[in-house]
Amino acid sequence: GEDNLLHKIPPEIILKIFGFLGPKDLCRCAMVCHSWSKLALSGKLWQCLHPVRWIKGSWYFGLIENESNEDTEKQLDSSSSTEDLYVTIDDDADFDESEESDASDTSILSYKAMCIRKEARSLTEISKYLIPVVGWNVHTLVLSNSYAITNGVVYKMIISCPNLQHLNLSETNVSDVAFKGLGRNGAGGQLKYLDLSGCLKITDTTLVRLAKALGMNPQKVEMCCVGACLPDTNQQINDCHSVVEKCVWDVEDDDDDEKDVDEVAMALPNNDEVAIESCDETLNCISNRREISNDYSGSSNVYDHKLNEDIANVARDNTLASWTNTDWTNSDGYETITYEQNCSSELRTTFEPPLAVTDSYENIVTCKPDCGQYCRNRKAKYSSGDTNWDLFHQGRPLEFLGLSSCYQITDHGLRALANNGGLPNLRHLDLSGCFDVTSTGLREIAKSSPCLDPHLFFYCDNITDGPLQESASGCQNLQCMNRVCCRSGE
Ligand code: FES
Repeated sequence: GEDNLLHKIPPEIILKIFGFLGPKDLCRCAMVCHSWSKLALSGKLWQCLHPVRWIKGSWYFGLIENESNEDTEKQLDSSSSTEDLYVTIDDDADFDESEESDASDTSILSYKAMCIRKEARSLTEISKYLIPVVGWNVHTLVLSNSYAITNGVVYKMIISCPNLQHLNLSETNVSDVAFKGLGRNGAGGQLKYLDLSGCLKITDTTLVRLAKALGMNPQKVEMCCVGACLPDTNQQINDCHSVVEKCVWDVEDDDDDEKDVDEVAMALPNNDEVAIESCDETLNCISNRREISNDYSGSSNVYDHKLNEDIANVARDNTLASWTNTDWTNSDGYETITYEQNCSSELRTTFEPPLAVTDSYENIVTCKPDCGQYCRNRKAKYSSGDTNWDLFHQGRPLEFLGLSSCYQITDHGLRALANNGGLPNLRHLDLSGCFDVTSTGLREIAKSSPCLDPHLFFYCDNITDGPLQESASGCQNLQCMNRVCCRSGE
């Protein structure tokens, strides 16, 4: 009852105590009463979810102390009481064994099947009842090494966790369908870490969806159009993907074409501020518009007309339709910038950019490796430190992409990621075992990822003319029996 002593404890104290509890205990607390339920399922208590590990009996939110994520999972897999849970089915096994051995194999397999069914049931319940309640706060979701995870469960989890930054699905059986929710209501737009290593069914479709979810990278317009492109040759202008190429989702969207405009609007940052009054198939104009609109001098709150002119020039140079009218006004402390452009039909976008101004360029960007002209231009542009870097930094936060053994990936998928601004924060890219990609695709992704660390860049050893040939780390699947590699068994 309400007179209960427990109800006299202030909520902030209860919340503090709840902070020491694991997920299982929190769920139990949530069943005590209405107010405890609110406290136990709210706030920042549910940021790191490890459902697969929980189901195996390890009820912790974060990593186990002094262990990396992977080490923890390996240890749990090998030392937990369910160590025989996932027996490996050896296709080459000698089946001429005794009846006793057959019987024992059968019982292990049926035990395994039972455990997988239990795990599947638990995962379904977590995705159905828990994640929709706590999903807003979730930034880490680890589902690796699950034999029971299904596309449907992953789909639900992704769309319920729009602020997800770390998603690990390595060594699972998921396919492209699981990622159909990427880009819907902002899902996947915050991803910094995505590990799909060992997911053999993943194809380019997932990379295209990921590119769509990550949205535009306004930073690329700065780097490319104002820096490298303008003063240099036509060739460099042509390299400026974000200006001259159409949006990925314009050409790749596999859903109903009539929804294209809506989906583009949803994929753009701050989409509720974007109103598209009319548009035709030249959706690339929308993307250009949005990128340009993100660029303004935040510290003085004055829009940089000069930059706008520069970009308009680039647009003209690339024979896009001319920019006929650009206007901006101030209202209520926000900048309201309206652009109008005559493409093949009239198109208008209105939005209000955020105002925050924080770090300067030098504090955040370290180019690894220094890619010459590209980086120098970028540095020159931002050396004054008066740019709203925080705003630029919102674009495409992906830092880690693990696609080891995703052997169906091709250049097409890599190109989707490289377009629309590339991956400015990507440091780790594992394409081991992706033997269908070629040096062309690798060059595109490497070129559009200026922070890529060569030591954390892995691709097939048979590609002898790939990017960063001297310093990249090659294929780490070599002679690794459980990962796809064109040289396995050599
Ligand atoms: Fe070619 Fe591994 S995929 S060496």
